[in-house]
Amino acid sequence: MANLKTQFFGLELKSPVIASSSSMTADLNQIKKLAKAGAGAIVLKSIFEEEIDTQLQEELTKSRDLEPDAEYLDYFDYIIKDENLKDYTNLIKQAKDAVDVPIVASVSCISASDWVLFVQKLAEAGADALELNLFLLPADVYKTSFQNEQFYFETIKKVLEVVSIPVSIKISHYFSNLSNVVKKLSETGVAGITLFNRFYSPDIDIRNEMVIGADVLSHDNDYLLPLRWTGILSSKISCPLSATTGIHAGETVIKFLLAGASAVQVASVLYNGGAEMITQFNEQLAEWMDDKAYTKINDFKGKLAISPKHVAVYERAQFMKYFSVKRH
Ligand SMILES: Cc1cc2nc3c(=O)[nH]c(=O)nc-3n(C[C@H](O)[C@H](O)[C@H](O)COP(=O)(O)O)c2cc1C
Repeated sequence: MANLKTQFFGLELKSPVIASSSSMTADLNQIKKLAKAGAGAIVLKSIFEEEIDTQLQEELTKSRDLEPDAEYLDYFDYIIKDENLKDYTNLIKQAKDAVDVPIVASVSCISASDWVLFVQKLAEAGADALELNLFLLPADVYKTSFQNEQFYFETIKKVLEVVSIPVSIKISHYFSNLSNVVKKLSETGVAGITLFNRFYSPDIDIRNEMVIGADVLSHDNDYLLPLRWTGILSSKISCPLSATTGIHAGETVIKFLLAGASAVQVASVLYNGGAEMITQFNEQLAEWMDDKAYTKINDFKGKLAISPKHVAVYERAQFMKYFSVKRH
């Protein structure tokens, strides 16, 4: 039987299929189901820097008669952060006691400010690794790409200074020079990079002429964007890659491993099909490996990453050839 072991988050995982951070991984019962289904690791629902700030604002609005001075604000900030942190560290401890799968704490952050001090507590609570969901939408027309990128490098530096557990990052594709930035990020000391997190996207309802939220769950062909960049970058950077977004089938897991990913992270498919989808993906992967006479992931990982043979397919961006062929 094929051996599905792989390395990601600086850890050995028994399967390359990771339960990605979502509300599924905020619940102990779900965590047990995901572990039983064969997840290689479980990334807990993120503790959100933004969420903490919003709570603080709400509390302040409620107590209108108070004239908050700087000290009061500091105190309130401290209490609220402390409560969130307690809940989160409890979840880490409970998950560690309940399952025998690496538990990865996750922080969603948009600045390199004082939340950084929290991460030590997450490590102390027993998290095996930490994932930083770095989600900066570069929407400010006055900020340069250099200013935006600094957020990533500063955050990583600050976090690496305070924790000794492996730290990996999940990023979006919104960079003006994606390949170069990912290469530089891979040289910062992170244990892994995950391509690409999804933003909550706006859509437009033309009937009511309203801006609305688009589907929260991904679609099964959304994987093509991370697949291209996994193939282009996996052999050129200094840390392992994992992929997320649109991985809805066992076949897609295999595609990412062939493109050079060490693991994949799935969320939407778990909402659609339950934790058993992980068992199904593991079985499909093992069956395919047996058919191909591969005994371990490293026998084929990166076999179809970019190379002189594949450079044209990975880097071709225009459809010109397709249309010219169709005309004949
Ligand atoms: C309902 C929901 C909640 C999510 N919450 C988080 C989160 O707290 N932190 C995070 O890093 N990613 C979060 N994600 C993103 C997922 O971890 C994953 O990276 C993304 O959805 C792409 O994978 P998918 O196509 O399999 O859904 C969430 C996704 C969903 C659908």
